[in-house]
Amino acid sequence: MSGPLYTTSTGAPVLEPYAVQKLGFTGPLLLQDFHHIDLIAHFDRERIPERVVHAKGAGAHGYFEVTHDISDLSCAGLFKKVGTQTPATVRFSTVGGESGSADTARDPRGFAIKLKTEEGNLDWVFNNTPIFLLRDPSKFPHFIHTQKRNPHTHLKDADMFWDYLSLNPESIHQVMILFSDRGTPDGFHHMHGYSGHTFKFVQSDGNYTYVQIHLRKEGGFKTLDNATATKLAGENPDYGLQTMHEDIDNGKFPTWTAYVQTMTPQQAEAFRYNILDLTKVWPHAEFPLRPFGKLVLNKNPENYFAEIEQAAFSPSHTVTGIEPSTDPVLQSRLFSYPDTHRHRLGVNYGQLPVNRPIAPVANFQRDGFMAFENQGSRPNYQSSLEPLAYKEKPYNIQQHEIWVGGANTDLSFISELDFEQPRALWQKVFDDTQKAHFVSNVAGHLGSVKSDKVKARQLSVFASVDQDLSDRIANAISHASVQPLKVAAAADAIKFRNRATLA
Ligand code: HEM
Repeated sequence: MSGPLYTTSTGAPVLEPYAVQKLGFTGPLLLQDFHHIDLIAHFDRERIPERVVHAKGAGAHGYFEVTHDISDLSCAGLFKKVGTQTPATVRFSTVGGESGSADTARDPRGFAIKLKTEEGNLDWVFNNTPIFLLRDPSKFPHFIHTQKRNPHTHLKDADMFWDYLSLNPESIHQVMILFSDRGTPDGFHHMHGYSGHTFKFVQSDGNYTYVQIHLRKEGGFKTLDNATATKLAGENPDYGLQTMHEDIDNGKFPTWTAYVQTMTPQQAEAFRYNILDLTKVWPHAEFPLRPFGKLVLNKNPENYFAEIEQAAFSPSHTVTGIEPSTDPVLQSRLFSYPDTHRHRLGVNYGQLPVNRPIAPVANFQRDGFMAFENQGSRPNYQSSLEPLAYKEKPYNIQQHEIWVGGANTDLSFISELDFEQPRALWQKVFDDTQKAHFVSNVAGHLGSVKSDKVKARQLSVFASVDQDLSDRIANAISHASVQPLKVAAAADAIKFRNRATLA
C-alpha cells in the first residue's frame, strides 16, 4: 500500500491499526499498549466547547482588495494603495442553534471576517442585518437565553422567545427583518454583511469620521420562503455549508462590494437618531454608500476544524486608523470575544495558524497552555539590555465623548423614535407578498405562545409600528385587536440626549 506510514502521535510506526494488546486470547487489555491508549485518549478529548452563540457555521478563505481610495478617511495601512490585497478568512453562522442545527433556521446570520494586514489583524465581526435587537449589552445574555432552550423542558420555547421581545420593544426593528423572508437567507453566501455598529475611521492628524460598513453581495441577497426553509431544515440541515463549499470548488467565487457610510461628529449631533443606538440605520439618501473595496472567497479550507472552527474573531482585533465608537454594545463585545476565545481555545489562541498575524508579534506575554511560539530568548520584561522598539504615536484622537456620554444614559428608554424605521419597512419597503409572508411567519410562531399576556403585549408592539399590521397578525392567530404601547414622544428621546457641542 502507498501513502504516509501509519504511526502513533509520537511518530512511531504501528503495524496494525486495529491491534490491541491483550492478556491471552480473551483476556483484558494491557496498560502498556501506548498505541491504543494514544488513540482512545485523544478521541476522548476531540470536542472543544462550541461557541456559546453562532455555533453553527461555514467558512472559507479569500482576499479583500481596495478598489477606491479612502485614505482621506483612514490612515490604516491596508487602505493606502488601490489594488492592495489582504488575505481574508470568513466565517458565516446562524446565532441561536447548536453546532449541528439547521442552516436555514429563522435567525440573524453572522458574517465574521479576519483580514491579515501588515499592521496586524483586523477583524470585522458583522451580521447580515444593519441593526440588532438591543442597544444595552447587559440584555444580551437574557435575550440569548430566551432564544435557546428552556432550562426546565430543554425545548425551544415560544413563550420565552416572545416574552423577551415584547418586554423589550427596542427589538422591533430587528423583528421586522427577522420575520420577513430576510430571516431565512438562501444559504450563507448570498447575503449582505453590515458592521451594524458605528466605528471611527481616523486620519493621520487625529481627526476622525464616524462610519458604518456595508458588504453587498454581487448578485444580490437571496432568501427562502418559510416553507422551503423548513423543508430544507429537515432534508439538508447543512444546506448553507454545502452550497457554498460546492460553489467555491466549482470556481463560482462569492464576491461582495464594500461600502462605507460616513458622518462627521457635527452631523452626528444633528442626526435624528443616536448613532450609538444599534437598533437604528443611517438612511442611505442622507448618508450615501461610498465604495472602497471588494471581498472575494476563492478557497475552501483544507481542514475545517483547524481553519474555521479554531478561528477566533473579535471586534477588538483592530489596526491603527480604525477605532471602535463608544456604542455600549460594541464596547461590551470588545471584552466578550477574546474572553470567550481564552475559554474555548485557550490563552494562546492567537498562535493557532488561522489566527496568527502575518505582522510580527513581539511583547511580554509568555507561557500558558500550548505556547507554540514563546518568543525565543527575547526578554519577557521591559528590558534596557534588549529593548523592543516602539512605534511613533500615529495620532492624538480627538474625543467626542461629552456628547457620547449623555447619549448613552438610559438605554431602555422607549419612544416613538423606536417605531419610525420599522414602520417605514412595513409601509414603504415591504410589497404585498412580503407583507403576507411577514404576517404568516409571525403568526406561525406567535400563534404557538401559551400565555395570552405575552401574545397581547407583542401585538401591542406591532400595533405601535402599524395598527393594520397588528390586526392582521391578531386575525391570523384568532386574537382580539390590541392598542399600541404608550410610549414617550420622539421629541422627548431627542431632548434626552446631551447635545453639548464639540469643543
Ligand atoms: C459570536 C458575544 C452582539 C456578531 C459571539 C460569541 C460571543 C458573542 C461570546 C462567540 C465567540 C466565539 O466563541 O468565538 C456577543 C455579545 C454581544 C454580541 C456579548 C452584545 C452585547 C453581536 C453583534 C454582532 C455580533 C451586534 C454583529 C453586528 C457575531 C458574530 C459571531 C459572534 C459574527 C460569530 C463569530 C465567528 O464566526 O466565530 N458573540 N455578541 N454579535 N457574534 Fe456576537
